[in-house]
Amino acid sequence: MTAMIRTLTGITTSGTPHLGNYVGAIRPAIAASRRADVESFYFLADYHALVKCEDPARVARSRLEIAATWLALGLDTDRAFFYRQSDIPEIPELTWLLTCVTAKGLLNRAHAYKAAVDRNVEGNEDADAGVNAGLFMYPVLMAADILVFNAHRVPVGKDQIQHIEMARDIGQRFNHLYGAAYRAVTAGDEDPFVLPEVVIEENVATLPGLDGRKMSKSYDNTIPLWLPSAQLKKALLGILTDSRAPGEPKDTEGSNIFSIYQAFATAEETNAMRVAFAEGIAWGDAKQRLFERIDAELSEPRERYDALMARPDEIEDRLQVGARKARERSAPFLAALRESVGLSSRVPAAKGNTPKSKTATAAPLWKRYREKDSRFYFKLVDGEGVVLLQSGGFERPDECGRLIDTLMNMAANAGSDQAADWSMQGKVEVLASTQDVKSALSALAAIQAEKQAAKASAN
Ligand code: TRP
Repeated sequence: MTAMIRTLTGITTSGTPHLGNYVGAIRPAIAASRRADVESFYFLADYHALVKCEDPARVARSRLEIAATWLALGLDTDRAFFYRQSDIPEIPELTWLLTCVTAKGLLNRAHAYKAAVDRNVEGNEDADAGVNAGLFMYPVLMAADILVFNAHRVPVGKDQIQHIEMARDIGQRFNHLYGAAYRAVTAGDEDPFVLPEVVIEENVATLPGLDGRKMSKSYDNTIPLWLPSAQLKKALLGILTDSRAPGEPKDTEGSNIFSIYQAFATAEETNAMRVAFAEGIAWGDAKQRLFERIDAELSEPRERYDALMARPDEIEDRLQVGARKARERSAPFLAALRESVGLSSRVPAAKGNTPKSKTATAAPLWKRYREKDSRFYFKLVDGEGVVLLQSGGFERPDECGRLIDTLMNMAANAGSDQAADWSMQGKVEVLASTQDVKSALSALAAIQAEKQAAKASAN
């Protein structure tokens, strides 16, 4: 558990995935997520999308398309954490805690914000004309994305390096200010935040686009990833080439067709193509081979993608499962962070002044209930009604009873310090720190023991 490296990256949901995203980001990320020593966190940065995109239909569509893309390409969501930023309420919560330790001057220096200001100044506009505060705060939200899961490594494009450096700065500042309080709260010896390292994938291909510049949404030169075969072929035929005639030897160096081919082909196939170039393959034929190679790789996942897009509920279900799994980490962590900054939900008892009010001393309790879906649920609430554990839905009420027994037994046997254990493989969502959960459970166990003793003496 401790030796695990956590890798995390976000995908802004404002566009349609293209071949460049696939080769440069998605394919290597999915491959990396299969490594046994890595825990991967991949998420849809849909809050970030709102900074630049005010078109609700486009944001909604893009979230769906990008989720379907990762699932269709075989991301193993049992292993990886795959979720949507906006499904994790701890992220905006942490954003505020971090905002309050972030120097405004740091944000003034962020490239994207500065570029907008410089453009305004050049155009004799007010420096902040047309700049929303979301753009200004963007690096803090991104720091929260990373720090909330204490990621060690963040693979991103070069344009994001500064953001990772800022996440380190902000995390370090928080550690400095609240580290001691956090250690007291968690009874541990760790800093709240791991300081993340940026990872720039050097040996990942950047794909040229239709015009030969890097394939990018901002150049409008992309080929969408999920075009149907016939349209994919048509798009590839449109790639810019030089004017050499069939039979004339062609340079592989600087050829867009060759670079794209190489990004998909094996070393052997690439060599064969190199030979064909030397022998003067016609551009039309080279493009046909390029098409066939890409289509062979994408046709199966394309079927899965189309099937998923036809059933958005299924995508939604998988995202909900992903969010629950991610929150098993983020919810208890935020509970500890809140407490560290002085925002505990439990009011510390003033000395020599024990509260008389009933609620303040009320015991934790189990609540069992049935939902409209006719399933049975239970939750553990503390004396103030704060939910500490929340179960999923079960077909039969005795399943709830058994799980409650298991939890009580775990507490009786000194228990575990891992939220993951208390979640019992996702049957229960842990919404507070493990310390809170444990003390509530032992309070309950004490009450139970008292009742049993009373019963025994009455008999
Ligand atoms: N800003 C990143 C981009 O545009 C996307 C992103 C949001 C991200 N949150 C993140 C990347 C956290 C890495 C980690 O590419």
